[in-house]
Amino acid sequence: MTTWDPSQYLKFADHRLRPALDLLARIPAAEPGAVFDLGCGAGNVTKLLAERWPKARVTGLDSSMAMLEKARAAAAPRIAFVHAELARWTAPVPASVVYSNAALHWLESHETLFPRLMGQLAPGGALAVQMPRNHRAPSHTLMVEAAEAGPWRAKLAPVRGIRAVHDPDAYYRMLAPLASRIDIWECEYLQVLEGENPVVEWTKGTGLRPYLDALDDAAKKGFLAAYAERIAKAYPPQPDGRTLFPFRRIFIVAEG
Ligand SMILES: C[S@@+](CC[C@H](N)C(=O)[O-])C[C@H]1O[C@@H](n2cnc3c(N)ncnc32)[C@H](O)[C@@H]1O
Repeated sequence: MTTWDPSQYLKFADHRLRPALDLLARIPAAEPGAVFDLGCGAGNVTKLLAERWPKARVTGLDSSMAMLEKARAAAAPRIAFVHAELARWTAPVPASVVYSNAALHWLESHETLFPRLMGQLAPGGALAVQMPRNHRAPSHTLMVEAAEAGPWRAKLAPVRGIRAVHDPDAYYRMLAPLASRIDIWECEYLQVLEGENPVVEWTKGTGLRPYLDALDDAAKKGFLAAYAERIAKAYPPQPDGRTLFPFRRIFIVAEG
């Protein structure tokens, strides 16, 4: 089980929020009943779902106690935050909206997961999902390279990090037979980051976590240095000192 550090994840809150809002803007539901936020994390997006639909019953679900604790402390009391394993989750009542921002890429078997999530919808409900699809970028391929490049290799061999998210047409084939309307798009955000070697700080909050969790302090330091050296070359600073981190994401809105 990956450990999550809400403060590390929230370091880039603005960049991480943008796709959540872009997804939210495309959900047609006018007056939903039950809204579920799968992999709600620290609850900052769940709060926005509750603001958009003030009459809805909004529930955030996550498997990280640290994230849920942060969410409960920060969000409105009318939002329920519930501990759940998404691989097995079913909605307690038919859902008007099943929303998930930057979480389902941690789960495998999307071929069964996505149709099962569609099955949780009330008639006319919507499944709305955003996932990073940056696994072919140096930020992610260099994790695997660094994992194989030192004495930590054996410890990291069994690590299974972020799953490779499928191409958009694969999600179309999974969902089109179950949907009355389907909208899938991709977007590459040219993220402008501040600070020294900031891409490492970014992945330390997400994709790097399973690798770091598997190592003791000394090996962690060595692995992180091997990764950081490669990342610094792949993402050199611009003349103004900032670093460009192009980041590809897939968006899916399927109506039942
Ligand atoms: C990158 S965070 C995204 C948080 C939030 N959706 C946001 O946009 O700020 C991913 C979240 O998914 C949760 N998660 C990952 N795999 C999960 C699983 N199998 N079951 C439940 N939650 C999971 C993690 O605990 C983490 O809080």
